[in-house]
Amino acid sequence: MGAGKLPGGNGYAELVSLLQTNPKTGKPVQDLSELMPLLPQELLSNFTFVYQSRSPHGELGENSVDPLHPRILLFSKDGRLTMAFTGNPGKPGFNTLEVVHFEEPKARFELSQFVLPAAGGAADNGLINPPQCLRCHGVDPKPITDSYPLWPGFYGSVRDTFPKESEELLWYRKFLKEQSKQGLYRFLNWPNGTSVPPYLDPKRYNRNTVEAPLGEMKFLPNTRLGMAWTELNRKRIQRKLKGASEYSHFRYALLSGLLNCTKLPISTAADEAVYRDIYYENEDRLQRLGYRPKGPGKDALSMMELGMYHNLSEIEYVARVLQLDSSDWSLAYESQSSSFFDGILSSAYGTTDYYLKEDFVQEMLRDLAKEDPAFKPYFRTYTAYPNNQSFGERLDIGSALGACKLLKQRQDENSLALPVFASPVIKEETQSAPELLEHLRVSQSPFERCAHCHETSTALLAGRKIPFSSPNKLSSVLHSLSKSGRPMIEEIQIRISLHGIGQMPPRGERLTQTQIKQLTDYLQAASDPRPTLRASQ
Ligand code: HEC
Ligand code: HEC
Repeated sequence: MGAGKLPGGNGYAELVSLLQTNPKTGKPVQDLSELMPLLPQELLSNFTFVYQSRSPHGELGENSVDPLHPRILLFSKDGRLTMAFTGNPGKPGFNTLEVVHFEEPKARFELSQFVLPAAGGAADNGLINPPQCLRCHGVDPKPITDSYPLWPGFYGSVRDTFPKESEELLWYRKFLKEQSKQGLYRFLNWPNGTSVPPYLDPKRYNRNTVEAPLGEMKFLPNTRLGMAWTELNRKRIQRKLKGASEYSHFRYALLSGLLNCTKLPISTAADEAVYRDIYYENEDRLQRLGYRPKGPGKDALSMMELGMYHNLSEIEYVARVLQLDSSDWSLAYESQSSSFFDGILSSAYGTTDYYLKEDFVQEMLRDLAKEDPAFKPYFRTYTAYPNNQSFGERLDIGSALGACKLLKQRQDENSLALPVFASPVIKEETQSAPELLEHLRVSQSPFERCAHCHETSTALLAGRKIPFSSPNKLSSVLHSLSKSGRPMIEEIQIRISLHGIGQMPPRGERLTQTQIKQLTDYLQAASDPRPTLRASQ
């Protein structure tokens, strides 16, 4: 792998062959301290750390990650290859390598795991997309990250640096002093020019800027990784749009609406519903961060999406027209997340902003230009970071707007009009959980233990809110899709009858047959019959 990657590749094939044969010994690589010096400089120079992990290595699982032993993420500059492993030799899971790579022709991310010989090896090393990974990374898997400017649980969680008041800075300095020169951490290429490598020096933290300071890109690993992934993710989403049976009918009208050539028929109520969702998601994210800015500029750390909710409701409208489930479009861990923002603020054109939806416009128009030469002149891109060709391809919106007329023409040839949806109905709670239980003659709540992890603040760590004790809210969640792509109501059934990995509750006594029956009755009573969305593959 010293030679880098095959032309046009993502470096994954080289990594696999390196693991099979260390060119220096001619034998399989035994452990991570043997692997690291063999890796290309690019991977050793692009890294970030997770100190509070929601993966199986964190608190709810092996408990192998802590502020002095953060999990290491190495990535190629273009985000096409990312590796992750823990750094604590005394804990379970050490010497296991997890990989996510992007397959360009398929527009898919793929996951794999390698338990190295020092950790006992595993028969399914290198198996693509093992089911045990998909229950969190999703059936159409993706890397997991929050969106700019906050990554709770990652070091540099606030804009790739540390606000002075945050405890995280103390921990990070302690880690640098005590651990960074040891173990696996010592193989990393620690950059100079900051007191908290690889992150931005807190002295340079300016809470009044929104955008990532360009000249400092070198010290912004979380930002860089998010930008690179976002660019790959938008290709993944475009693959889903194209796969929808209605896509060819509606794409001209949808693209025209996203470009603001025409107006998409979205009600104020739909806009408000989207705003409300982002508002609550943002609150959760700040709570997970454990640090709340005060005084002037206190909103600076809020999700950028809060200010762009109309664009988000346009994205949701697109999903709805195409009858696609959009719950896994964002790279956030939570289902139905609205966090998309990658930190590149290039998308204002005149007084119109194209934030977030610009990614959709770009891929839709790229495809159109490939298929229909008449659109070719309107698809132009430029690079947002001339010194960095690995990511930052942006759409030239001025040129794209030239397509308005042609879009209208194609739309007229194609008589279908965009559907108008009735406003989302906000149902009043008709029956409370105790009432429903009484009706079912169940004296003890069968979901008490579930609620502990899925409804309280633990749900932020679990990343899966399931509102068991609120039947109305529960109803819509039961009809949504789980990470494994099944209707949630089925997923719950499967999880409570599993043994071992993935069983619910994950720890302690399993539910008894009676409890399973009671929970099932409750779920059925809470869920009213209605169609479930299709998984967008
Ligand atoms: C319990 C949920 C869960 C399971 C199961 C899981 N992951 Fe993850 N994974 C996460 C979360 C959450 C992150 C984000 C960083 C963190 O919190 O540690 C992550 C991060 C990663 C990363 C780093 C890049 C990224 O996405 O941020 C890789 C690589 C990865 N996981 C691979 C795997 C592989 C391979 C498997 C199966 C062997 C797997 N994961 C199983 C939750 C999970
Ligand atoms: C100790 C905390 C804990 C308890 C108790 C718990 N869960 Fe979970 N649950 C999790 C975590 C963490 C995940 C995410 C990792 C995974 O999918 O395995 C999860 C995931 C799930 C999922 C998958 C959701 C999705 O979108 O894929 C379902 C369904 C579920 N739990 C149901 C239940 C039920 C039903 C109970 C009670 C019988 C329960 N859980 C109890 C922690 C818990």
